[in-house]
Order: sequence, then C-alpha cells, then structure tokens
Amino acid sequence: MDETSIITVHVDHVTGTINPSIYGHFIEHLGRCIYPGIWVGPRSRTPHVQGLRKDVIDALQRIQLPVMRWPGGCFADAYHWIDGVGPPHRRPRRPNIWWGGEDSNEFGTDEFLRFCSSIGAEPYLCVNVGSGSPQEAVSWLEYCTYAGSSSYAQLRAAHGHPQPYPVRYWGVGNENWGCGGSFDPASYARAYRRFATYLRRANPSIQLIGCGHTTPDWNLRFMEALRGPRGMRLIDALSMIHYYFSGRRNPFGGDVDFTDAEYYNLLFDVQNLEYQIQQASRVMDFFAEPGQTIGLVIDEWGTWHPQATVETGLYQQNTLRDAILAAVVLNLFTRYSRKIVMANLAQTVNVLQSLCLTRGEKTIVTPTYHVFDLYHAHMGNAALLVDVNSPQIPAVAPPSLTRTLTPLHAVDASASLGADGTSLVVTLVNQGLDNALDTEIHVVSAQRKEVDTGAARTLAATDVRAHNDFDAPHNLTLHDEAVGLNGTIVHFTAPQHSVTRLSLTLT
Ligand code: AHR
Repeated sequence: MDETSIITVHVDHVTGTINPSIYGHFIEHLGRCIYPGIWVGPRSRTPHVQGLRKDVIDALQRIQLPVMRWPGGCFADAYHWIDGVGPPHRRPRRPNIWWGGEDSNEFGTDEFLRFCSSIGAEPYLCVNVGSGSPQEAVSWLEYCTYAGSSSYAQLRAAHGHPQPYPVRYWGVGNENWGCGGSFDPASYARAYRRFATYLRRANPSIQLIGCGHTTPDWNLRFMEALRGPRGMRLIDALSMIHYYFSGRRNPFGGDVDFTDAEYYNLLFDVQNLEYQIQQASRVMDFFAEPGQTIGLVIDEWGTWHPQATVETGLYQQNTLRDAILAAVVLNLFTRYSRKIVMANLAQTVNVLQSLCLTRGEKTIVTPTYHVFDLYHAHMGNAALLVDVNSPQIPAVAPPSLTRTLTPLHAVDASASLGADGTSLVVTLVNQGLDNALDTEIHVVSAQRKEVDTGAARTLAATDVRAHNDFDAPHNLTLHDEAVGLNGTIVHFTAPQHSVTRLSLTLT
C-alpha cells in the first residue's frame, strides 16, 4: 500500500471530557445472560463467589467496566423489585413475560449490587413504569440508598447490608413507547413527572434518566409535554437512542458467515447512528434551560445478528467484525463526548454483543471484550480534535438507509489526553479488508510537544470472521506491536481489519 494514512491529533483543541460511562454495559433477565452467565448460585460446582460466577467476575474486573444497567430492557417494566430480596427460598417464581420461561428471582437487588461492587462498576437501575407505581420506585430507592432507619433501610440491613448502596443512576422506565407500557409521548411525560417528582424528592443526589426514542418526533413531543412547571428540573439525561445494528432487517449477513459486502454494510450503518446522535443532540439543546445540560444516553447498543432470536435466548457468536464495529462506535462516542454521558453495550454475557460467553463451567472472552480492554485508557480524559486522511472506501448503502452516505475512511481514529497533560491515547481502526496501512500520527500543539515514548497494542487476525470458541479460546488476543517515533510524528503499520491503541507520552 503506497498511500500513507495521516492522523492529525490537535493536542490544544479539546472537544469534551470523555465520561467513563460511555464504556458502560447492560444485563437483563434474558436467555443465559444472568442465569448462568453471572449467577450460578451458592450450591453450584462452577467456581463462584457467593453465587456469582467467578471466572466472569474476574474477566470483567480486569477491563474496568464503569457502569452496569439492570434489570432490563423490556424485563424492567414487568419487574417488581420486592420479589428479588430476602431469603432466596421465599422469593416467588414469576413468568418472564418478555423472554419466556420463569424467573426464580434468585438474582435480585442485593445480588446485582454485589456483582457491581465485585467488578468495580457503578450500578444503573431501571425502574418499572409500565406495570409499577411511583411508590414502588421510591421504595426501591429507599431500600438502596436511605441512610436512616426506615423500614426499607432496616430490611436492607436485615439482608446483610446496613450501609446504603451508592446507586446514582435511575432510569425511569425502558422503551415506554413499546414494551414499557405502549405510552404515547404525552402520557409518558405525565407518568415521568409523577415518578421523577417523588424519586427526586426522596433522594436529590440521584441522576434521573428519561426514556426517549430513536424517532426525534417522540423526543420532541415528550420534551414539549415535560416542559412547564419544574419539568426540566426533573430530568438529567434522556436515553434517546437504543441502536441495534440489526442483521434481522439489514443485509449484514450472519454472526460468523458474512460476505465482504455485508461486512462493509455493517460499518456504513454507523453513519446512521451518528445521524441519530446529531438529531437527538439538537432536541436536547433546544429544551435545556439556561445553564442546564441534558445528557444524551444510549443505554442499549450493539450488533443483533439473525442467529439471536427469542428461541436462542438472543445468543450469537462474536467475530473480529463485531470488535471493529465496537471500536468505530466508541471512537464516534468520543467525538461526541460533549453530548453523550453514558452508553451501554447489550448484553455482557451470552446475549447479543457479549464480552463473555459461557458453556457449562467454561468461560471465554470475545473479540469485543478486547476492544473494551483497549479503550478504557480514554476514560475521563480530554477528547481531542482529530483529522484523518486515509484511503476511502466508497459508500454502498444498505437498503434500510435512505440517506446519502459518505465514503468511509479506511482508518478511523479518536484521541484523548490524560489529566497530566502528557499521556496521549490514540485508538485507531483499519476498517479495510485488503491492506495493512502505513499510518502516521502527527501530534500538533502550540508548544510543539514531541512524542517521547510510544507503545501499541493491537487486536488483529488473518480472517475478519475469526472468533474465540470453547475449543480455541485464545484465537484472538491482544498483541504488542512496534511503533516508530520521530519528533512529533509516530509511525505505525495498521494491519488490515484491526483495532489498535497507541499509548504515547509527550514531552
Ligand atoms: O436487549 C434486548 C431488548 O432490546 C431489550 O429488552 C429492549 O429494551 C430492546 O428492545
């Protein structure tokens, strides 16, 4: 390849602060995600820590997940938290009306919060609006966070946790335009006001996240209806986008079997997500009151291949293609870090774009897991302006897209600077299938800072369909690669279809 890709990183041009929560995750009582992906119970032969699956905890702890959303998803608006606390043998079994089968309620609030604490993630609870009440939501908040000696605080203490749990994020329902109660925007706004008024009053320190929709029309009508007395004070962020790269409707091929054209179709769909982020941001900016920022949350996203059906418990394999997509999406979130305050990949273990897959007592990590391992270095950093000049991949629109697409840059990148002012992180993806790309990173700053040290870690394989499996669990792992340093320029050869993190120090 004779065309060198140039990535220009403008160290003095900060575009936002990267909220660690944009690398967040989501679990639901669905398929084999919780049982037995996370919870095997205290009598299991699978190694566990008080019922929580040890190998999964160990794997997740290593990559520093910032935030975990639970209990759904659609499950949330049919869930009654009181069913899931107290002695396990007294907990009722309930039909799982959205995903089939029954739920033993063995994994409830205390188990979830213990899981979060074991992996170092902040919890994000989604309350039941569709079939619940404000009183039920407020009593859940009281159970989790109340520091006094009210009945629910005493109940928590009786269940082994006298200290309040630090639960900051509270979602007011999930997809309330659909499985969360089939509301229209105005009636959801009325319900939201009621729930949020009492949740806010009961604990003013929490962050309240409303439920939006990928259609700007719903968001506009909801925000319009919420406006008025105190309305904007009741909302901190709106989950405006649930974005699944869905091979059920689009020509993306299967989880493992896909053509080169289907590979590119999937990556072009990221432009659709970006368009939705832009639309959502406009709505938020329009309604925010002076001095207020209403954050944009994308609390479900990821690939949804045709293999993931209700019958398979939304199980699918996860190839290098999924990892490349995740990396490109995370680069996008970094670019919009002024707007996006949280994003949650669906759904961590055994469901959709998982980080871990389990079979019996075995657990493997997926290529997507390694992307999160690379990207957590950006957390909390200042996002920087990046220009990319690289070979272009012509646009071929999947039929589901009617808008004009722009060509893809073969190299996609984002960059951030640590609080010390010298640690520079550049994540780059070679999206092209055919060639390794000679790449130069040009570091531009008024002080003409030079690159003192550099290290590269890469996820790559000879086949983009490569994946880890129970017979070959380490097919895809991270490798250290060579980088060349020359003053303000870093030289790196990005293998075809690969993801790399460059860790640089500036002097
Ligand atoms: O993640 C699977 C489902 O997708 C969730 O339950 C729902 O919120 C979304 O439609």
